[in-house]
Amino acid sequence: MTVVVDVDTPGGRYPIHIGPGRLDSLDACIPADATSIVVVTNPVVGELYGARAVAALQRTGKRVLRIDLPDGEAHKDWQTLNLIFDGLLENRCDRRAVLVALGGGVIGDMTGFAAAVYMRGIRFVQVPTTVLAQVDSSVGGKTAVNHPLGKNMIGAFHQPIAVEIDTDVLRTLPAREISAGLAEVIKYGLILDPEFWQWCEAHAAALRALDRDALAHAIRRSCELKAQVVGKDERESGLRAILNLGHTFGHAIESGLGYGVWLHGEAVGCGMVQAAELSALVTGFPRADVDRVRKLVAAIGCPVTAPDLGAERWLSLMQVDKKAEGGEIKFVLMPRIGQAVSRTAPDDAVRDVLKRTVA
Ligand code: NAD
Ligand code: GLY
Repeated sequence: MTVVVDVDTPGGRYPIHIGPGRLDSLDACIPADATSIVVVTNPVVGELYGARAVAALQRTGKRVLRIDLPDGEAHKDWQTLNLIFDGLLENRCDRRAVLVALGGGVIGDMTGFAAAVYMRGIRFVQVPTTVLAQVDSSVGGKTAVNHPLGKNMIGAFHQPIAVEIDTDVLRTLPAREISAGLAEVIKYGLILDPEFWQWCEAHAAALRALDRDALAHAIRRSCELKAQVVGKDERESGLRAILNLGHTFGHAIESGLGYGVWLHGEAVGCGMVQAAELSALVTGFPRADVDRVRKLVAAIGCPVTAPDLGAERWLSLMQVDKKAEGGEIKFVLMPRIGQAVSRTAPDDAVRDVLKRTVA
């Protein structure tokens, strides 16, 4: 059965289709006036699902091309982005070409960015194939590449015309990637929905085991919550910042260790524990709930102890964050489970949290 969640933003309205086997009906989301379809993927996902995606898209009768980018966060950069432009220009793709991002968040973010700027903007479809991409990165139109000095620092807002979530493809994901994606799932409960948080506590093992019903509920609820937030604040002028819970700490881990050493979701999971600790000091988050956050992050299989980057380096890395204003670091903090605010925190409280949470 396919579930539909609608996203409605000033930058575009589009459906998220969630269900098994969606890969085989990708042709349905291609507009009639498209001149060519360009599937952007990587060798891992391309080997597993490229042929099926291309076969479905060929039913449109249009030219279908495929561009493979090298796999991994370490390649989410300007140089790799250029491979998409090379492919589009070599094949004389025009303004009515439609890109199809087939892969995880790295492929989705880079394909979306290429679509945002190629010929000043063309259409694209998200076909997310990781838990993380299905519950978070494919929805809401944030696109970017990394810079050596900061994560996702170069990018654009550009909404897809459709998000096609085939829940079957998660069966081939390595266990570590499943755990990393679940970090973004529990994030929604923590910032927006206490009932969903409790449901995640009760279903952590089922989610890790890819239980069909549990996963279907988690993906749907995550997409609904994300759609609500981006519908109210597409460009992160306020509310949307709460979706970055754990990211101020998490991005410092990712860029501090070198992109790809910790998975993005692992860094966010650990960062949520650090944000909970900071919330206990700054916004009165109950200590017992800090323990619940730590327990659930561990239960989904993510690390709860942060790497030792040195306190000064931690602080300097956290300053290179899109939420930082005038050199002041901003954190997403919780007064209680299900509520979140984006705000600054006293320096001594941040240093205290680093002491408590770093290995
Ligand atoms: P990823 O894209 O690197 O994918 C993880 C790994 O799984 C890769 O090796 C990939 O090839 C492989 N893979 C993908 N699908 C597979 C499948 N079905 N079976 C087997 N292997 C598969 O990582 P990710 O966690 O999906 O995405 C992380 C990225 O998403 C980060 O760069 C992060 O910044 C970004 N992100 C963006 C947003 C946004 O709003 N745009 C939100 C959250 C995260
Ligand atoms: N993952 C953060 C956002 O989409 O805003």
